[in-house]
Amino acid sequence: MPDTEKEAHRRDAEDPGHRHLFHVPPAEGGRYPEVAYLAGNSLGLPPRATRDELLADLDAWRRLGVEGHLEAERPWLPYHELLTGPAARLVGALPTETVVMNSLTVNLHLLMVSFYRPAGRRTRIVIEDSAFPSDSYAVRSQARFHGLDPDDTVLRLRPRAGEDILRTSDVVDLLAAEGDTVALVLLGGVNYLTGELLDIPAITAAGRAAGAVVGWDLAHAVGNVPLALHDWDVDFAAWCSYKYLNSGPGALAGVFVHERHLGRADLPRFEGWWSTEAATRFEMTPTSRPPATVEAWQISNPPIFAMGPVRTSLELFDSVGMPALRERSLRLTGWLESLLDEVVADRPLAVVTPRDPARRGCQLSLRIGVSARSEPGSRAPQSRTEGGWAGDAGELTKRLRHEHGVIADAREPDIVRFAPVPLYSTYHDCWRVADALAATVEKTR
Ligand SMILES: Cc1ncc(COP(=O)(O)O)c(C=O)c1O
Repeated sequence: MPDTEKEAHRRDAEDPGHRHLFHVPPAEGGRYPEVAYLAGNSLGLPPRATRDELLADLDAWRRLGVEGHLEAERPWLPYHELLTGPAARLVGALPTETVVMNSLTVNLHLLMVSFYRPAGRRTRIVIEDSAFPSDSYAVRSQARFHGLDPDDTVLRLRPRAGEDILRTSDVVDLLAAEGDTVALVLLGGVNYLTGELLDIPAITAAGRAAGAVVGWDLAHAVGNVPLALHDWDVDFAAWCSYKYLNSGPGALAGVFVHERHLGRADLPRFEGWWSTEAATRFEMTPTSRPPATVEAWQISNPPIFAMGPVRTSLELFDSVGMPALRERSLRLTGWLESLLDEVVADRPLAVVTPRDPARRGCQLSLRIGVSARSEPGSRAPQSRTEGGWAGDAGELTKRLRHEHGVIADAREPDIVRFAPVPLYSTYHDCWRVADALAATVEKTR
């Protein structure tokens, strides 16, 4: 066994994480019984507790029928409230500021109904050029909904030429210079492609100082990095629960609205019967009485069987705690980075994620087909290499999976993402990534 593999086992014995609480898919063959799962940034693994908890909720329906709304062990009418406390703690919010509902892009639209209010010169929406496409489509469609031309309305932030990641100071400077035309700043807390963690408090402060509303898509940040949305004065945020929150494919999403906006009668909201206060909901009056909490943004009665996995997962985060997870995440991703540095040194691969651990979560993104050499002060690859890897990112992840049992995720044409997730990934998983890459991608010299 190579020394680095022995070292991985030693680290796992010393710093075991919570893998035993999860189901890890079996490997299709090869040396190890389980896959090395590095795709938790795309879809997290199932907690072992989820199935039983879900079956218990199903069983209440079998036994009680409609009476389950009030008489189930976890009554369905106030079921969503079970998720509020743990979700609020995870994102650094007050319980009145947090609710679990719908899916991510739907929530972004509902929030933009309230918070994207173009008027006069102030019409523009700032996003990253590498925003997840759903966000780009969402903001463009919002511009059109307001009768605006999306090409003029949506301002896309690009890294400097030859760089891969945004500089906070450039974003702040742009907001200072052009902020009076900006109605909304809507950015990803952790960029889905590069893994860059933006400076959420600094950019929020700059956007608000410029008179804009600042919202965050936290799909890749929640459960990955510590968040303090209330204290950072974020206006609103939304996130999904199927990545680091391990709540299953298409799982219900979360929403944050800052306290200062709660109960505001001047903010438009789309409403349904779950937007009205719970105490009088069943009086069935024709007009609503929205509560002065984020629950006023709810519309429909929540899908209980979809809430169960989110509840189970949030309880797990609550018991382990984000500070401990972040500590382990820094150790695990640092170890993967040091192993990857050895591999990329003489192969057509380059790490595009920021090197500063404070500017990233657990994900490391590699670009393939480019040299790791870069100008001093720049993280960007300088030149394309001849030879070496001949395929694209999809081809590489296929080979990693089928030949080595390593599950990573490709963003065509040239980015491969690896996320050692602090809840369940191991040092040995990281070792397997580096070992598999070294075996798959030929050296260039
Ligand atoms: C950053 C980001 N935003 C938005 C979405 C879209 O999410 P949904 O399909 O849940 O609306 C995703 C999906 O992966 C994402 O990564």
